[in-house]
Amino acid sequence: MDKSKLIEKFLGYFDGSLEGIRLFTAPGRVNLIGEHTDYNGGFVFPAALTLATTVVARPRKDRMIRLIATDLEQMVEADLDCLDQYRNLPWGNYQLGVAQTLLKAGYMIKGCDLMYEDKVPLGSGLSSSAAIELATAIALVSLGDEAYGKTKAIDAIEMAKLSQRAEHEYIGVKCGIMDQFASAMGKKDHAIFLDCKDLSFQWVPITLSGYSLVIGNTNKKRSLGEGKYNERRAECEKGLELLKSALPQATCLRDVSCEDFEKYRHLIDSEVIRKRVAHVVYENQRVLDSVEALKNGDMATFGRLMNDSHNSLRDLYEVTGKELDTLVEEARKIEGVLGSRMTGAGFGGCTVSLVKNERIPAFIESVGKAYQDKIGYGASFYVSEIGDGARELK
Ligand code: GLA
Repeated sequence: MDKSKLIEKFLGYFDGSLEGIRLFTAPGRVNLIGEHTDYNGGFVFPAALTLATTVVARPRKDRMIRLIATDLEQMVEADLDCLDQYRNLPWGNYQLGVAQTLLKAGYMIKGCDLMYEDKVPLGSGLSSSAAIELATAIALVSLGDEAYGKTKAIDAIEMAKLSQRAEHEYIGVKCGIMDQFASAMGKKDHAIFLDCKDLSFQWVPITLSGYSLVIGNTNKKRSLGEGKYNERRAECEKGLELLKSALPQATCLRDVSCEDFEKYRHLIDSEVIRKRVAHVVYENQRVLDSVEALKNGDMATFGRLMNDSHNSLRDLYEVTGKELDTLVEEARKIEGVLGSRMTGAGFGGCTVSLVKNERIPAFIESVGKAYQDKIGYGASFYVSEIGDGARELK
C-alpha cells in the first residue's frame, strides 16, 4: 500500500487526527553465504531486501501501546509499565519485547498506536521477525525522542543489538546478530560483509553481470522457537570447549582455522559435534572466498561456493530437510544456474539461486513444477532486489 492508503487504514482502526503520524520501515534480508556462523563470531554476507515491514505510528498521551496489522482484526493493547504480563501473545510479542528491551536499556519511550504492514513472508527465513523488531525499535525511539526534545540521530547498530536482545530474552531464540544487523544497516545494491566478532563491516556492491539472485520459498512453515536452532548453538559451544584444550586462546569457533580444525579434530569425541564444527570452520572460509570472488566478478566461483555451503548445511549441520533440498536439487538441474543454497536458519524457509537473467522464467517454471510434483504443494519465487536498511519514510 502507498503511504496515503496506509494512513487512511490507520485512521480506520484508531480514529483521531493526522497529528503526530510518522511512518517507519525495516526490511527483511537474504543471506548470500555464511550460515550459522554469526553466533560463532564468524563472517556473514547478507543483503537487505526491498520486501519490508512498514509501521504507521502516532503518539498517545497515556502509557498504552496499541498494535494492529493491516491483515489482522484483533488489536493488542498493552500497558508500557507492566509489559511482562503479555509474553505469550499469538501476535505482538516481538513488538512488546522490543519495547521492554528499550525501556530496560534506559530509552524514554511513549505510549503510541502502531499499525504494521508486513511484506516479508512470515516464517520464511527472510527475517520477517528482524524487520518487525527494527521497525518497532526505530518507531518507538523516534517518537520518544520527539516527545522529549532529543535531536540526536538514532544509532542503527545499537537498535540491531537491542532487537537481538529482545529476541533472546522475550522470544527465547538465541539468534546471532546477522538478521537485525542486515535489517538495520542494509544499503541498496550492496551486500554487507560483516565480521560478527567485532561488528566491523564493509558494503560490497553487488553487480552480478547478467545474473540475478532468485529466492525460492519452500512455503514450509517453521519456527526457530522449536528448539533445533538453540540445539545447534549449544553443539557449537560444546565443540569449542573441546578444542580449547589445544587452542586455549580461541574465544569462539571463528578463531579456529581450517588447519587448526584438521589438526585437532580428534579432540572432539562426538561425531555429531565434529560435523557441526567442520561446517562452521569451512563456512567462514567460504564467506571470505565469496567476497573475493564477487569483488572480482567471478560468478562461477561464487556459484560453486554457494553449492558447497548448501551441501555442508545438509550433510554436516543437518538443517535442510526434504523441501529445501528438493528446491536446491531442481534448481541446479537448470541450465544457466551457477549455484543454489538454502538461506537463513534452515528447517524450511527459502533458498537463493544464482540464475542467468534470460533463464529466470524457465527456472521458475521448471523448478516450480518439479517441486509441486515431489512435495505436493507449490513453492513461490521472487527475484531479489537489494534495498536500504531501516529508516523513516519521510
Ligand atoms: C537465523 C538467525 C541468524 C543466523 C541464521 C543462520 O536467521 O536469526 O542469527 O544464525 O539463522 O545463519
